[in-house]
Amino acid sequence: MAKVIAGMTVSLDGFVEDEDGRAGRLYTDLDALQGTPYMNAAIEATGAVLMGRRTFAMGDPDSYVGAYEFQVPIFVVTHEPPAVAPKQDEHLTFTFVTDGVESAIAQASAAAGEKTVQVVGGAGVTQQLLLAGLVDELHVDVMPVLLGAGLRLLDHPELEQTKLEKLGVTEVGARTSLRFRVIR
Ligand SMILES: NC(=O)c1ccc[n+]([C@@H]2O[C@H](COP(=O)([O-])OP(=O)(O)OC[C@H]3O[C@@H](n4cnc5c(N)ncnc54)[C@H](OP(=O)(O)O)[C@@H]3O)[C@@H](O)[C@H]2O)c1
Repeated sequence: MAKVIAGMTVSLDGFVEDEDGRAGRLYTDLDALQGTPYMNAAIEATGAVLMGRRTFAMGDPDSYVGAYEFQVPIFVVTHEPPAVAPKQDEHLTFTFVTDGVESAIAQASAAAGEKTVQVVGGAGVTQQLLLAGLVDELHVDVMPVLLGAGLRLLDHPELEQTKLEKLGVTEVGARTSLRFRVIR
């Protein structure tokens, strides 16, 4: 199985989006991140991406080909695939997985081969994967922003049983990137 990395960006008070469903204030450094060793390493390591349906719908799905940082197979967990498949090419394909996160990880892992599966959100899918013991590393990037309210990354009582070991901390411009190994 490929290594599974779940990575999201949070405000200092722990939210992945504000109470109006907006995450833009967490990504004011997006342009500055391009071409950094941090970003290049993530792109190089990633063989497949997994995301929830809400995360998939954050942008125009037809704009992923050629523009999204990870030009790899993308797996979207959903109860209902879109009626029209988004634009794809020989590198970036979309697979809509309707039989749960375990199946999504198995399919993404097969596609990733020797590389890693990068789970890019959202909070719901990340929590399900942690609770199912399907995450190898948790990467939490903290931005110096307070959102006050919204959707928390980690907000489930049973997550208390998840054990973590610190792997390292990297400062990338405004963000502080925290990496943890999930102990199984
Ligand atoms: N800060 C960051 O780094 C970051 C990154 C990504 C996203 N975000 C924010 O997070 C928000 C999304 O997070 P979220 O937790 O609400 O949503 P999410 O995890 O992206 O997607 C949740 C949706 O995925 C589908 N789904 C989840 N588990 C499933 C399962 N086991 N079986 C079938 N379908 C399943 C369901 O959609 P259907 O029932 O509709 O199919 C569910 O409503 C975005 O709107 C964005 O603002 C932030």
